[in-house]
Amino acid sequence: MSMQPSIPPQRPLPGIQHVLAVASGKGGVGKSTVAANLALALATRGQRVGLMDADIFGPSVPMMMGLGLVDPQTTPFPVEKYGLKLMSMGFLPDANRGVLFRGPMVAKYVTLFLTQIDWGSLDVLVIDMPPGTGDAQLSLCQTVIVSGAVIVTTPQEVSLIDARKALNMFGEMRVPVLGTIENMSYFQGDDGKRYEIFRHGGGKKLAEETGVSYLGELPIDPRVAECGDLGEPIVRRYPDAPISKSYLELAKALWDRLQRSPSPEVLPQVEL
Ligand SMILES: Nc1ncnc2c1ncn2[C@@H]1O[C@H](COP(=O)(O)OP(=O)(O)OP(=O)(O)O)[C@@H](O)[C@H]1O
Ligand SMILES: [Mg+2]
Repeated sequence: MSMQPSIPPQRPLPGIQHVLAVASGKGGVGKSTVAANLALALATRGQRVGLMDADIFGPSVPMMMGLGLVDPQTTPFPVEKYGLKLMSMGFLPDANRGVLFRGPMVAKYVTLFLTQIDWGSLDVLVIDMPPGTGDAQLSLCQTVIVSGAVIVTTPQEVSLIDARKALNMFGEMRVPVLGTIENMSYFQGDDGKRYEIFRHGGGKKLAEETGVSYLGELPIDPRVAECGDLGEPIVRRYPDAPISKSYLELAKALWDRLQRSPSPEVLPQVEL
């Protein structure tokens, strides 16, 4: 029996310049929030942006964007809101989830969302990943050429151990890690003083240890959670908040990095 190459030939998605994965090792560090706000920040800067929810069992995009179930008869996918093109398992009724087992189901829907949804022309398709290094990550990296991944961490060390795993996985899948973002980095009081609730600097430490860039930090802002519940991300609802300004800077930094890495459409296809 001959050995199969471990990495199948991924393809660029037609019409989509860059696929950007927002990932983490640990759950609950703010990936979905970061993905949604980065998508909006990129759109504010003039890019054409899609946001795909790759969290098949725990979708967040509909809620964060003020949407619920969608009738595909009347609303074609991807759904458009706030200038973004959106796709999520949360738009589909449970009945569509079929009888497939977890692993194959995740693989099926991630591939389906990537290849069967008419995204049109996009500069960036942002992917909100589930936590960890499981089936969704594998399916994404095996189906399309991912231009880059950003790793979201919180400042604590436990979160870093998992972030390191995620980082290594993208390395193995030959996806460039564009950098780390430290979320919930500090809290700024009304007095202007900076309170470091958790130990600070983990995102930077991880970046230094692994040789990837440190993209920056995002403060804790109670309005972020409020916005999540209201269905309008903070970048849109409170554009003047310090965290919204940080998101715009992050979007610029990421866009510059994406521009420097060649678009998958012009990358030579390497036979393995
Ligand atoms: N900077 C922040 N300040 C305050 N609250 C935040 C911040 N970032 C995220 N949150 C809140 O933390 C919670 C978790 O965020 P989110 O759902 O984005 O995490 P996640 O990493 O996507 O989680 P999961 O692993 O379950 O997918 C949410 O209630 C969100 O509103
Ligand atoms: Mg999430």
